Amino acid sequence: MLCLGNICRSPLAEGIMRSKLPRNYEIDSAGTIAYHEGKMADSRSISVADRYGIDIRKHRARKIMEDDFEVFDKIYCMDQENYWHAMQLAVNEKQRQKVVLILEEAGMEKENTRVPDPYYGDISDFEAVYTLLDEACEKIAGDILKRKE
Ligand code: 4NP
Repeated sequence: MLCLGNICRSPLAEGIMRSKLPRNYEIDSAGTIAYHEGKMADSRSISVADRYGIDIRKHRARKIMEDDFEVFDKIYCMDQENYWHAMQLAVNEKQRQKVVLILEEAGMEKENTRVPDPYYGDISDFEAVYTLLDEACEKIAGDILKRKE
């Protein structure tokens, strides 16, 4: 799960996706900038997640790295800027094919093109991000599990 700072959106996406897939799925998140490296998720993300029974307190922010393109099958981007950043970092076609927009992957791009950055917003913006990500992760996790059958 990729966003800009790895403190608001992608830690939420990571926690939500974890809650929808079996434990053997490796799910992680990162940001395109290192500015918040080592920090916990934004307190507003933590409290919104809490309200839905998801604990993201163990999260520590990190920047995306080369290895991520090998370790993971998909890089789900929250918005187009994250997408273009990841596409710049990918070194071959196989890696580029792993980079997707999360809402596009969930078939939700018609209503919303991006998961909006709530950093300068208030708790209601974090709630809206949670709702959007929960719907997206529900669809994506469902597809992943269906493909496995
Ligand atoms: P995120 O939100 O990308 O969802 O983690 C942001 C976090 C930090 C900043 C911007 C967005 N920032 O400008 O520091």
